[in-house]
Amino acid sequence: MKKYLKNLPQEIKNLIVLAEEVSRETKMPAYLVGGFPRDLILGVKDWDLDITVEGNGIKFAENLAKKLNVSLVKHERFGTATLILNHRLKVDVATTRKEVYPSCACLPVVSPGTLKEDLLRRDFTINALAVSLSTDASRKLIDIFCGKEDLTAGKIRILHDLSFEDDPTRILRAIRFKQRYNFKIEPKTLSLLRAAVNSGLLNKVHPHRMRDELVLMLKEKDPSAQLKQLYDLGGLSFISNNLKPGRQVYGLFKSINQEISWFMRSFPFHGSFEAWLVYFAALLRQLSLVQSKKIIRRLGLSKQEEKKILSCRQINRRFIGRLKNKQIKPAQVFNLLKPFSYEAIILLRSVSGDSVFKKHITDFLKIYNCVRLSISGDDLYRLGVLPGPKYQKILNKVLAARLNGSVKNRQDELALIGKIIK
Ligand code: CTP
Repeated sequence: MKKYLKNLPQEIKNLIVLAEEVSRETKMPAYLVGGFPRDLILGVKDWDLDITVEGNGIKFAENLAKKLNVSLVKHERFGTATLILNHRLKVDVATTRKEVYPSCACLPVVSPGTLKEDLLRRDFTINALAVSLSTDASRKLIDIFCGKEDLTAGKIRILHDLSFEDDPTRILRAIRFKQRYNFKIEPKTLSLLRAAVNSGLLNKVHPHRMRDELVLMLKEKDPSAQLKQLYDLGGLSFISNNLKPGRQVYGLFKSINQEISWFMRSFPFHGSFEAWLVYFAALLRQLSLVQSKKIIRRLGLSKQEEKKILSCRQINRRFIGRLKNKQIKPAQVFNLLKPFSYEAIILLRSVSGDSVFKKHITDFLKIYNCVRLSISGDDLYRLGVLPGPKYQKILNKVLAARLNGSVKNRQDELALIGKIIK
């Protein structure tokens, strides 16, 4: 693996050297596992490191954290720990374990195991590679299931026939990796995957776990392709049997994709914007309000997420028509769009290519939404207005005038207040 590791950023190379030191000092064999070796071989940048340790993962993580002088979050119950080096680089440390699934689609019973058992419990051959960090075989690839061959051939292959029954979320994972890397699901895996979907296994998993997988899917580069593949395989039933996306929905997903890229470029500091939520809201538009609410609750989305998704339902023909009007004034545009979240606004921008419509939304985001008045409630108080709901009404009027350009500075604003009070 040396040739692959050579090209890593210095920060990660240093980290690997320190992990090797810890492995030597604690006499605990350690390995880089999961997505890291996979993406390293594929030449894809993924700076999340997973280390698994034969011994005690938490002790190993404590030693590594000391050497790196970073803090550590321990999850004692799972025998794992996370080191956060900076906003780009995170290291998860676990103890090698084996898993036994007591019944189909249930969470496994976990106990310490060997590296081989740890790799055998994993989803696909391409995710069951390990890079040794122990001195005797340092930086050697451990490839028990021919994962490297599958990586080179572009194949998604499960490790054993009961893999999807053990963990049906792997159905979504298979599709996700297939689309992400433009791989193929090899024939036997595909036929077992189809059988698992057809026997309704996706509905046996806890809905919150399904939600987590769905969110990951919608966070991929091309959610339209992900959705199509999932639907074609019959895998949308865990959300609703009534979801039947067609060309229109896939087209909408594509334009959401472009609008999100535009939004990210134009507003890099967008706070809590959740791109996946725009796609999910677009998907649920096919269903009734009652159905959507049921799904949102079953999947355990937060109140905030529910609010954002449901607000997207106000995007109807009439609303769109109003924003296509060239004559509409800035304050009217502001009042129409102000109640919406950024997610709803991006969905809105995606539903029409009309240039007037798009310009109104862009002006809202770039100009109107940033306008701040020079006056405040204090000025109203000084002018003798008694505090109450009136304040907001007056300030809204002044803001409308400011947006429409009839008021330009503090003096104008104060003069307008005077008029309004009279
Ligand atoms: N894994 C698994 N079955 C699952 C989830 C995870 O076997 N249902 C294993 C895989 O070996 C996977 C590793 O746990 O590589 C880490 O999981 P995760 O962080 O979810 O995925 P990554 O493979 O790192 O994928 P991504 O690039 O999307 O983060």
